[in-house]
Amino acid sequence: MKNILITGGAGFVGSHVVRLFVNSYPNYHIFNLDALTYAGNLENLKDVEQKQNYTFIKGDITDATFINSLFEAHQFAAVIHLAAESHVDRSIKEPLAFVKTNILGTINLLEAFKTIWNHDFSEKRFYHISTDEVYGTLGATGLFTEATAYDPNSPYSASKASSDHFVRAYGETYGMPYVISNCSNNYGPNQFPEKLIPLFINNIINNKPLPVYGDGNYTRDWLYVIDHANAIDLVFHKGKNKETYNIGGFNEWKNIDLVKLLCKQMDVKLGRPLGTSEELITYVKDRPGHDLRYAIDASKIKSELGWQPSVTFEEGLGLTINWYLENKEWLNHVTSGEYQDYYEKQYT
Ligand code: NAD
Ligand code: TYD
Repeated sequence: MKNILITGGAGFVGSHVVRLFVNSYPNYHIFNLDALTYAGNLENLKDVEQKQNYTFIKGDITDATFINSLFEAHQFAAVIHLAAESHVDRSIKEPLAFVKTNILGTINLLEAFKTIWNHDFSEKRFYHISTDEVYGTLGATGLFTEATAYDPNSPYSASKASSDHFVRAYGETYGMPYVISNCSNNYGPNQFPEKLIPLFINNIINNKPLPVYGDGNYTRDWLYVIDHANAIDLVFHKGKNKETYNIGGFNEWKNIDLVKLLCKQMDVKLGRPLGTSEELITYVKDRPGHDLRYAIDASKIKSELGWQPSVTFEEGLGLTINWYLENKEWLNHVTSGEYQDYYEKQYT
């Protein structure tokens, strides 16, 4: 059995990746390493926690001594690295936390991986999960390709860009086998309600204002989280060494159009008269350094690995809203902070 380390597996994207790998690969033992910050929630993984090939480890990737001993103990054949501080607005308020986790944390993992395999990397792989935000912003036209120059604008994207560079540097300098993927905005079940879609779903449920930044004419390329997890599975198993794969939804939306679609779907599902939720839209002060437009050219992963999104945006958004409406307890625990007690109850 191969020991595989997934970092950040209690978070939004990570929990879907952990579930997919634990269920699809009984010959892997999946170790989920997560510090359980505000964004980490083990309630996301209740359905896999009893599985024989799954182990949760609470720990911080910024703690080099701990990371080295963990790698020594389990001799991970591969790492799928998702742990990160992930919210742009928080990075504007607290950039240092992003430097620590996203840059130093990544270097600690690279160092530990290098040390245990001592340059003998046959059949080993370090898979770094990154974001399209490293490319900066697009104007009205064009797409991010794997060849687009890095040009990050927020402390979040600057820290992710830096970590991508370190992964590549370890590949070049020490011959460490790696692969990187840069994905567009995800949405779906289990996303912490600070990001646009789950925040607005929660606010609509509670009749609270929907704070649209600036004029709302910012564009993002949205991908259903399970399609991202499937792409990660493909890149992990079939991606070429030292390559980058861009992952996107072929699905650009201006924020304001997306919010209006969400409002309509929510009105229908909540049985409210059409137009009720739209009245909650409130234009607020813009985010500093707000990137105008992200859009991914995902033709490489499509043509080389045969990946494509499985749901349309309307379907994915419908599934997402249903999940939040059916999991009000999850939402209540997250908004009240109660979910943080779960670890204590379950694991101590
Ligand atoms: P998230 O904030 O929901 O989850 C991050 C997880 O990392 C949490 O479980 C948290 O507890 C854990 N973590 C944070 N600091 C840690 C530390 N120091 N040590 C150990 N664990 C720590 O984030 P997400 O949206 O699931 O994103 C996961 C990864 O995917 C990130 O690397 C992010 O850059 C990347 N990504 C996300 C998106 C998206 O739209 N969500 C898009 C592209 C790429
Ligand atoms: P977000 O979900 O924070 O993702 P990112 O900044 O990584 O793209 O935001 C998506 C878009 O929605 C972005 O253009 C900022 C905007 N936004 C709002 O207008 N209001 C909000 O309250 C939030 C959280 C985001």
